[in-house]
Amino acid sequence: MRSLRAPAAVVVCLLFAQSASAQKPVSFINDVAPILKENCFACHDTKKKQGKYDMTSYEKIRAGGANGDPIAPGKPEASEFHDLIVTKEQRRMPPRDKGEAVPKEKAAVIAQWIKEGAKLDAGVAASADLVKELRVRWKPPVPPKVYPFPIIVNALAFAPDGKSLVAGGHHELTVWELPSGKLVKRVHTRAERAYGMAFLPDGKLAVAGGRPGQEGDVRVYNLSAKGKTEDGVEVLDGVNDKAVLVKHLFDVEDSVLCLAITADGKTLAAGGCDRAVRVFDLTEGLDKAKLTQTVENHADWVLGCSLSADGKYLVTAGRDKTAKVWDLKAKESVVTFPEHQNIVYGVAVKADGSAGFSVGADKQLRTWKPNGEGKQVKNAGGHGDEVFKIAYNPKQPMLATSSADRTVRLWNADTLAAGKTLSGLSDFVYTVAFSADGEFVAGGTFDGIIGVWKVSDGAPVKLFSASPGIATKEPEPKKK
Ligand code: HEC
Repeated sequence: MRSLRAPAAVVVCLLFAQSASAQKPVSFINDVAPILKENCFACHDTKKKQGKYDMTSYEKIRAGGANGDPIAPGKPEASEFHDLIVTKEQRRMPPRDKGEAVPKEKAAVIAQWIKEGAKLDAGVAASADLVKELRVRWKPPVPPKVYPFPIIVNALAFAPDGKSLVAGGHHELTVWELPSGKLVKRVHTRAERAYGMAFLPDGKLAVAGGRPGQEGDVRVYNLSAKGKTEDGVEVLDGVNDKAVLVKHLFDVEDSVLCLAITADGKTLAAGGCDRAVRVFDLTEGLDKAKLTQTVENHADWVLGCSLSADGKYLVTAGRDKTAKVWDLKAKESVVTFPEHQNIVYGVAVKADGSAGFSVGADKQLRTWKPNGEGKQVKNAGGHGDEVFKIAYNPKQPMLATSSADRTVRLWNADTLAAGKTLSGLSDFVYTVAFSADGEFVAGGTFDGIIGVWKVSDGAPVKLFSASPGIATKEPEPKKK
């Protein structure tokens, strides 16, 4: 998958590192540790410890590997730690056959730090885990006013009143007025991407997301809080403003990829790359949200999750090629559905818990009984490529699926009979959602487009670019 790089942010960091080395003393935690994390931790972490050398805390860096402390404070030229980075000899770090040399300006920061005594910053424990410490200190960049290129829409949700649509952007949520498709609000977030979102009954928005390979979280935002207006768009600070970021439910070490909330708002579930689904009881309100269980039922990433209305069944989709059902009351696994025999991307469950649905890389929509033996009841083809997401219409027995074949399809949830095929999009459709009144459906694509259609007749309502500053391109005429 493409990721949106922010060249401006990188330049700012470099400038900052250079000015830091020129003026104030080099900081171990702010200047040196990020360089080590990027260039050394792949081999010198707690697990791999190559050369018997674990570099994940200041203490361990100074303890050294098989040959003891590789740093002579004050003398970079006498420190193996620095010498191994800049050496012209064959034995270099990272080893010549395993990776690029550390860039010159970064090696210079390390040299300067050793020259200044290789000190640890006040306020950081010598034993502190550097990965965790860096994560806590990391500050999200401000999203660019105008995106350099379109960004994937991985998640979207209709506002409860149906008058706008929220989409995941780059370190922000973007709010688009309907049916005009005009950008009206931007909510800055810590997460680089949003992968799953759902409104709570009180109108607050819960969002699952993260920074790939770095961190993941679930946070809750009040989109009606006051922001400042820039060029006619309201900008909210969901990173620092407590009136906007109203709850931080949890953090993990990698992305949280899916999120589900029961219609009564009492149960929230979210899962992702750590294979676990965390389940929260919100009966006593957000402030008193309680983690009730952490379900580890899959052998690989959890890609989708859904809850029955009574909060009894948690249905999950796994990269391990199965869909699974967990009984949240009995706290046990009840069904494993293996039929896809390929990655299962999305799941849904009928509100009364009488039917489970799953879609996946096998291009199929399948239905089965959440309390049965894991036997298939029915399957439906139709999509010409992998199927990524599935949504259940809140007002009628209808499903919507989104696919790499560039369409959204509607289905009768009771019979799996095919309904309308909604087209007009020009790239993979990664996500799909119904409006609260069940009358509209929206899909979001790899190339940053959102399409909205009317459910009753499949008529297109609007197709627009959900990347701020990027105009909506008319779809190319079909080649004959
Ligand atoms: C691709 C893996 C890899 C990467 C990345 C890597 N190293 Fe190493 N490192 C090794 C291996 C293997 C050894 C043991 C062999 C040796 O000493 O040459 C080692 C040994 C060392 C030693 C000697 C430890 C001792 O006491 O014997 C130091 C110091 C060291 N590395 C520093 C670094 C630094 C600093 C970085 C980042 C700039 C780095 N390494 C990146 C694989 C790696």
